Amino acid sequence: MLEELVVRLREARDLSDAELLQLIDEDQDISFLAQQADLVRREHYGIDVYVRGLVEFSNICKNDCLYCGIRRSNASVGRYHLTEQQILECCRLGYALNYRTFVLQSGESAYYSDQQICSIVSSIKEEFPDCAVTLSLGEKPEQSYRDYFRAGADRYLLRHETADSAHYAMLHPSGMSLGNRKRCLFQLKEIGFQVGSGFMVGTPYQTSRHLLADLRFLQQLQPDMIGIGTFLHHKDTPFKSFPDGSLQLTLKMISILRLMFPYALIPATTALGTVSPFGREMGLKAGANVLMPNLSPLEVRSQYLLYDNKICTAESGSACANCLHNRVKNAGYQIVMDRGDVRK
Ligand code: 5AD
Ligand code: FES
Repeated sequence: MLEELVVRLREARDLSDAELLQLIDEDQDISFLAQQADLVRREHYGIDVYVRGLVEFSNICKNDCLYCGIRRSNASVGRYHLTEQQILECCRLGYALNYRTFVLQSGESAYYSDQQICSIVSSIKEEFPDCAVTLSLGEKPEQSYRDYFRAGADRYLLRHETADSAHYAMLHPSGMSLGNRKRCLFQLKEIGFQVGSGFMVGTPYQTSRHLLADLRFLQQLQPDMIGIGTFLHHKDTPFKSFPDGSLQLTLKMISILRLMFPYALIPATTALGTVSPFGREMGLKAGANVLMPNLSPLEVRSQYLLYDNKICTAESGSACANCLHNRVKNAGYQIVMDRGDVRK
C-alpha cells in the first residue's frame, strides 16, 4: 500500500495532505522510498555529488533561538570573527582542494557592515571568478540582500526552520517571526539569488503536521537548495533536555523531498553525520547530492557548535576532503569538482 503511494509520489511529485501524513507517520521500512528517491536523483544528477566549502566566519549572534548553541544568551561561547584576509585564506585552501563553491556562514549580527560583506564577496569573486559564493547570514533588510547580490554573491541559504507559525514561536524568541523569515526568502528569490531553505527534523514540539507544512511551504517557495538536518540538543540551551531527532525520520524526509523536488540540491548535512557515523552516506543513498565540508580555521571550529558532539571539529580542511572522497566512493557516488549549479 505504501509502495503504491511512493510510486505515485514519484510520478506526480505530489500527494494529498492525508497521503503525505500517512507516509510521514507510518513506521515502515524506508528502503523502497530511498530506492525510488535514488532513482530520481540518478535521472537528474547521475551519481554526482557536489561539494561546498563551508567557512563559518563568525559565531557572533544577536538572536536567541532556543535550539542553537551559539545563541546570544550562551555566555560560555568564546565569540570570534575572522578578518577578510582570514576568510580569503580559507577559500584559497578550498580552491587548492578543488572546491568551486564557498559558503560563508555566520551568526546574525551587525559586526560586519554590509560594505564589509560586499568587499569580502567581491574579493573572493575577483580571485576565484570560476567559483560560486553562497551567503548564509540570516535575516537582513532587502537593501542589504540587493547589495550582496550586486557584489557578486550567487546563492543564499536561509532555512525557514518550521513553516508553522505557532511552532516557529516555540523555537524562537518573541522578536522573531515566520512571517519575516518568509519575507526574506521571497525577496532573495526575487533579487535573483539561487535560494536554499529547509528545516530541522525532530525539534521539540514538532508533529507530522508541521513537517507537512514544511513540504507545502517549500512547494510555494520552489527553492533551488533544500537543507534539512536532525535536531540535536546543545547542553547550554533551553532545549538541552529534549531528545534528539530521529535519523530514520530525517532520511525519510530527504527521500520525500527528492521525489517532490527532483531537481533540488539537497545536502547530506553535518547534523546527519553527527547522529550516526554513516549518516551522511545514508543521506546520499536516500536522495541527497551535496556535501558541505568545513574550511574554517581549526582554532575556531570548536566555537561554532550549534549542537553537542558536532563532527569535524578537529580535522583540517584537507582531512575532511580526503575523508569525504572515500565516503562518497564507498557509498557508490562520485564527487565532482565544479560549481554544481541547480539543473532545472
Ligand atoms: N540541531 C540541529 N540543527 C541545528 N541548527 C541550529 N541549531 C541546531 C541544532 N541544535 C541548524 C538550523 C540552522 C542551521 C545553520 O543549523 O537549521 O538554520
Ligand atoms: Fe570531516 Fe570526515 S568529513 S573528518
